[in-house]
Amino acid sequence: MLLTIPDVLTRDQVAYCREIMDRTEWVDGKVTAGHQSALAKNNMQLPEGSPAAREIGDIILNALSANPLFVAAALPLKVFPPLFNRYSGGQSFGIHVDNAIRLMRGSDFRIRSDLSATLFFCDPEDYDGGELVVEDTYGEHRVKLPAGHMVLYPSTSLHEVTAVTRGARVCSFFWMQSMVRDVGQRTLLFQLDATVQQLGAEKGHKDPAVVQLTGIYHNLVRRWADT
Ligand code: NI
Repeated sequence: MLLTIPDVLTRDQVAYCREIMDRTEWVDGKVTAGHQSALAKNNMQLPEGSPAAREIGDIILNALSANPLFVAAALPLKVFPPLFNRYSGGQSFGIHVDNAIRLMRGSDFRIRSDLSATLFFCDPEDYDGGELVVEDTYGEHRVKLPAGHMVLYPSTSLHEVTAVTRGARVCSFFWMQSMVRDVGQRTLLFQLDATVQQLGAEKGHKDPAVVQLTGIYHNLVRRWADT
């Protein structure tokens, strides 16, 4: 399941974050890549753990924790501190799969990457190319979203970023471990949650069928989730 989450950040938040990025020095993106992906990766990154990356990362994580669509879709257990990359002058990131386990440098924090996210910090008309191409069982998806919007996709997917041939593409990317490891179970919960919300809005949340379905949702979470 590939899901767009609109307006994770407001335009003001995007502008504020861009200002911080513009006065920070960027480094070669290969520093966070695994062995295979280092061969495919050609971009710049904000230094991991730098004050700039931390400040903007916190803004993103705060926004996400208050975003019902994100919480329902990801059922997040642990989120890796957001990283930031910039592509320009023909830079790209060839096809790869993200590392299964992510370690935070200088700490014992580690996650299994179940879901990958890309949050856009510039608008599609600011650059040519730079599409995120994700392959899943339904085929190939091309993603290029307005600033402040985010795409969520299974970390098991092969994906790439096509060459940026004009302007610059600035994004945040990060991984999360879900409370529900299995993508099929997670998708069912997301669909059930959306249906219960819709039914609740139509019939009222005290309607007996809505109460029953809400109970079924929570009992499935109890069955499938790790905390
Ligand atoms: Ni990747």
